This record gives sequence, C-alpha cells and structure tokens, in this order.
Amino acid sequence: MLSWKIHLSLIFVVCFASGLTHLRKSSLDTPTGTLTYRALPNAPNGYTPEHVQCSSPSPSVRIATNISEDEMNWLQKRQDKRLKAMETFLTRMKIPNFNATQFFAKTQATALPNIGIAFSGGGYRALLNGAGAFAAFDKRTSNSTAPGQLGGLLQSTTYISGLSGGSWLVGSIYTNNFTAVTALLNSNASGVWEFDQSVLSGPTGDAGYFRQLRQTVDGKEEAGFPISITDYWYVITHFAICPPTMFER
Ligand SMILES: *[C@@H]1O[C@H](CO)[C@@H](O)[C@H](O)[C@H]1NC(C)=O
Ligand SMILES: *[C@@H]1O[C@H](CO)[C@@H](O)[C@H](O)[C@H]1NC(C)=O
Ligand SMILES: *[C@@H]1O[C@H](CO)[C@@H](O)[C@H](O)[C@H]1NC(C)=O
Ligand SMILES: *[C@@H]1O[C@H](CO)[C@@H](O)[C@H](O)[C@H]1NC(C)=O
Ligand SMILES: *[C@@H]1O[C@H](CO)[C@@H](O)[C@H](O)[C@H]1NC(C)=O
Repeated sequence: MLSWKIHLSLIFVVCFASGLTHLRKSSLDTPTGTLTYRALPNAPNGYTPEHVQCSSPSPSVRIATNISEDEMNWLQKRQDKRLKAMETFLTRMKIPNFNATQFFAKTQATALPNIGIAFSGGGYRALLNGAGAFAAFDKRTSNSTAPGQLGGLLQSTTYISGLSGGSWLVGSIYTNNFTAVTALLNSNASGVWEFDQSVLSGPTGDAGYFRQLRQTVDGKEEAGFPISITDYWYVITHFAICPPTMFER
C-alpha cells in the first residue's frame, strides 16, 4: 500500500515537474491570479512518456548541508513581501501589549520566523479539508480579513508543501499559477476541479470516459513503458483534479 502511494506521488512529481519550465511569474499578492485552464496543455503527448536526452552538463546531486544558491536568492526576494504581510496580519490580530510595527522595526529580519504550511495526506478528503484551510488563510478569499478571520497568513508564509492528497491540492495551485482556491472550484465558471462526479462515471458519465482511460494508458504501454493499476488510478484522479481539454465544459 505504501509503495503504491509512493509510486503515485512520484508520477505526480514527474508530471508536475515537466511543467516547471513553463511556469511563469506568479504571485499570491495580486487579486486572484489569472487561471490558465488545464495545467499542462503543452505536454507533447499527454500521458505518454518519451525518452529524452539528459541536459548537458548532466544534473548533479548537491550535498545538502545548506539550501541552494537559487533558493537563497529567492528567499531574499520573498522576505520583504512576507514580512510586510506578517506585520499586517499580526496588527490585525490585535494582540494585547504587542505592536507589530514596532516589533518588526527593531527586529533583524533573519530573527523573524519563517512560516511553512504542510497539507497532510488522505485522498480527496485531505485535498478538500486542506483547500478550506488554504482559502481561509488566503487574503484573496472574500471576507477572509474580516475580524476573527485568518486571511493573510498564507501571504505571510514562506513555504507550502503537501503529501499525497495534500500534494493534489498544492500541485493544483502550483500548476495553475498560484491561483486562489475559489478559482479552482467548479462552482466557478472557469474552475478546474471536478469532484461532483464519481470517479467510476467520470466527467462525461458514459463509456467515452472508459475508452479515454484505456487509450490514455495504452499510449504509455505502446511506447514501451510498463503499466500497472497505478496508471489507471493516476488517470482517473487526474481527470478530476486537472480535467483534460476533451472534457472541457
Ligand atoms: C500568473 O499570475 C501573475 C500574478 O497574478 C500574473 O501577472 C501572470 O500574468 C499570470 N500568468 C499566467 C500565465 O496566467
Ligand atoms: C548557508 O548559506 C548562508 C548564506 O550564504 C551562509 O550564511 C551560511 O554560513 C551557510 N551555512 C553553511 C552551513 O554552509
Ligand atoms: C504601533 O506603533 C506604530 C509606530 O510606533 C504606531 O504608529 C501605531 O499607532 C502603533 N499601533 C498601536 C495599535 O498602538
Ligand atoms: C461577507 O460578509 C458580508 C457581511 O457579513 C456578507 O453579507 C457576505 O455574504 C459575505 N460574503 C461571503 C462570500 O461570505
Ligand atoms: C472565479 O475565479 C475568478 C478567477 O479565475 C475570480 O476572479 C472570481 O472571484 C471567482 N469567483 C468566485 C465566485 O469565487
């Protein structure tokens, strides 16, 4: 069971990683972000993998005694944004005998905390529960910065991460340009997620769904790669979380 899950996560990592180079500048701070339909419309052949030449020089493994230079540079850029957001957030929390503006002014940035949010695993349940939390922490969600609400915590955050079901959430957000959860919901006309239909009937609710499942996995087998039940589960889940364009509403 465990190795099955790891396998599944790996497939997601591979799938999402292949979109990395196509990700554009994104921001949690602009109104809702712009949602591009479908995570990877530019995948050369959908689910069918291909053999490619390794980049030259070939990728190397770094001794991880420290974060990489790229991450360090990114942290530097993230710092100003998240500290400003954290100051606003803490001010709004009205903590007795604590003035966030004064505290941030006299404290070295490196001494201020880094916030990381991790979304746990547990399939759809974890995804949906995590999505509720993500939306509540996100200042872009309407009313989330009203008294007693936690909007802005996300903007104060440095890292987000997810495991299994939680990674479906983080992956959806990441591959859709860090859009807001309200934009991913299918109650939104331009939404992405399709959770109101059973995975057994799929987005179309007819035999076309099963044909599509089979063709998608067959493509991988015909290309000479071994397949297993995990491939079908991946495609089924993918149809709900990131529906391919043939099922576009
Ligand atoms: C991603 O979001 C940023 C910030 O909202 C926006 O400037 C950019 O145009 C978006 N990119 C795409 C491809 O939608
Ligand atoms: C990690 O990198 C930072 C920033 O360059 C540096 O200050 C620190 O000494 C490094 N730590 C180690 C253990 O190399
Ligand atoms: C916090 O400190 C700043 C700067 O000294 C001041 O302008 C602000 O009014 C203070 N806020 C509160 C709620 O006392
Ligand atoms: C936001 O709050 C107002 C006032 O309490 C309420 O009327 C409105 O329905 C809320 N909007 C959402 C999307 O919850
Ligand atoms: C639907 O998504 C768009 C962005 O794609 C967003 O601007 C809008 O607020 C969302 N609508 C609702 C009702 O959440």
